[in-house]
Amino acid sequence: MIIKTKKDIPSSEITPPEIFKERRKFIQMLGLTLAGANIPSAFAGENKVNFANLIKSTTPDDSLKPTPAELVKNYTNYYEFTFNKDDATKLAQSMVIDPWSVEISGEVEKPATYHLEAILNKQTLEERIYRFRCVEGWSMVVPWVGFSLANLLKMAKPLSTAQFVKFTTIQQPETMPNQRDKKMLDFPYVEGLRIDEAMHPLTMLAVGMYGETLPKQNGAPLRLVVPWKYGFKSIKAIVKIELLKNPPLTTWNQSAPQEYGFYANVNPSVPHPRWSQNSERLLGSGFFTSRRQTELFNGYSEQVASLYQNMDLRHFF
Ligand code: MTE
Repeated sequence: MIIKTKKDIPSSEITPPEIFKERRKFIQMLGLTLAGANIPSAFAGENKVNFANLIKSTTPDDSLKPTPAELVKNYTNYYEFTFNKDDATKLAQSMVIDPWSVEISGEVEKPATYHLEAILNKQTLEERIYRFRCVEGWSMVVPWVGFSLANLLKMAKPLSTAQFVKFTTIQQPETMPNQRDKKMLDFPYVEGLRIDEAMHPLTMLAVGMYGETLPKQNGAPLRLVVPWKYGFKSIKAIVKIELLKNPPLTTWNQSAPQEYGFYANVNPSVPHPRWSQNSERLLGSGFFTSRRQTELFNGYSEQVASLYQNMDLRHFF
C-alpha cells in the first residue's frame, strides 16, 4: 500500500468526555441503566461489552476453525498508528474510546448522534464466525461479536435517495501518531458501501471477538466487518455514518485507484497489479505449506453474488 501525504484534518464529532461522564454519573446515582429501566446495560464496566445475552450463533460458517486469538490480536493493520503489523497492539492502547458516539446523517429521516451504549442496548449481540481476507494475501477466521449494520441504519430511517453509505474513523491525533504527523494516508480513514451491501444480513458492526470486548488494535469500540470484501473495507473505530446519493471517496481507492477499487470484492481472478490474488496464506500456517485457494467473494458467493449480477467484476474491482 502506497504512502501519501495528508492535506487537512476535519474536526471530530465526539461529544465532549466531561459532559458524557457527568451524565453517566447522574444516571448511575439514580440507579438506572442508560437505555431506561429493566434493560441490562450494554457495558459491563468501562469500555467492556456485556456479553450476558450473547447469541452463540455461528452462521453461516460454523465449520470453520477460528485462527488462534493471539495471532489475530497481534498481527493488525492500523495505519493511524503504524506501518507494520506488530506495533498497534501496544500503540493503540492509548486510544480514548469511552465515551463513544456515532453520528448518523445524510439521506435519512432521523439524523442523530447515538452514544454507543444506546446503540448496544437496542441490539442482541451475535457471534458470527467469518473468513477474513486481506488484499495483501493473508487471511484468518474470526469469531466476531456484533450485530447487523442494517439494524442500526434502520434506526435512522434511510430515505429512498440513500444509495451509498460512508463510514469515517475517529480523528484522535493526540493518540494516533500517523494522524499527528500527517503520514501515509489522507486521514481520517474513510470507507464506503453501496446501500444494498450495507443492508445485507452478512454485513456487521463488531464490538467484540473471541467472546471478549474488541481489542483497541482490532478496531474498538466499533468496526465494520464485510466478509466477502478485502479487509481494508472493514473500517475500524467508526464515529460517523453518512447515507449519500453518490459514492463516497474512500481512503485506499483515492490513494491508489488502479490498485484498490471501491468494491474490493474478494476475487481470485482479478489480480492486484503487483501480485496474484489466486491464493492466500492462512494466519498461523506455514508460509509455503498452507496456502489455500482464494474463493470468489471469499466463499460467500451463495449469499452475495446476486448483488453483482449485471456487473463485470473485472471492471468493478
Ligand atoms: N481501519 C482504519 N481506521 N485504519 C486502518 O488502517 N486497516 C484496514 C482495516 N480497517 C485499517 C482499518 C485493513 S488494510 C485491514 S486488512 C483490516 O482493517 C485489518 O483488520 P485487523 O487489523 O483487525 O486484522
